[in-house]
Amino acid sequence: MKRICLLLGSPRKGGNSETMAEALVSEVNGDVEIDRFRLGDMTIDGCLDCRKCWSGGRPCIIDDEMDNIYESLAEADTVIFATPLYWYSWSSQIKPVLDRLVPFVSDEALSVLKGKKAILVASAGDSHESCFDGLLYSFRESCKLLEMEITGEFCYPDLYTKNEASEDAGLIADLKEAGKNIL
Ligand SMILES: Cc1cc2nc3c(=O)[nH]c(=O)nc-3n(C[C@H](O)[C@H](O)[C@H](O)COP(=O)(O)O)c2cc1C
Repeated sequence: MKRICLLLGSPRKGGNSETMAEALVSEVNGDVEIDRFRLGDMTIDGCLDCRKCWSGGRPCIIDDEMDNIYESLAEADTVIFATPLYWYSWSSQIKPVLDRLVPFVSDEALSVLKGKKAILVASAGDSHESCFDGLLYSFRESCKLLEMEITGEFCYPDLYTKNEASEDAGLIADLKEAGKNIL
């Protein structure tokens, strides 16, 4: 049994990035359990830079719904980061989750994300693929620091209104096909 931690970073339920991520995981080959987190429905504070990671035996001293994500990350083989492109970067819903991964790069880390697989799913309104350059830089450098293995980057431009991804049969079919072998 493999486990996926699916981080859905859009405030729009059923929007483009969520639709794309769900298509990607819909036909995965093999036994898989998926922990889904609709981050827009959760309360997750930003990192305080208090330098107290792991001081209480837990990754972070903040007591909020990030604890559920920490639990899922500990078990996950693959982490999928799904986000709409906001100002050429991550959405404000997923950014606090990324900031709260700092415990895993601390010298005192009691557990790490090293070796886990990382996948990026992103949608944008712009029509040029280069709109994802900043996001991709952030994703790749972050995975390098976390020693996660990038196994997929699915960044699609030209998706502005909410149903554009779901109405694009070709895009959905491509993602379903690609998703078969993501484990
Ligand atoms: C606050 C905000 C900022 C955005 N910034 C960008 C941007 O920098 N570049 C871009 O191409 N699209 C931008 N968009 C458009 C979204 O990326 C696009 O509509 C995306 O497909 C939304 O995905 P979702 O349906 O999963 O929320 C922005 C939208 C919002 C609401």
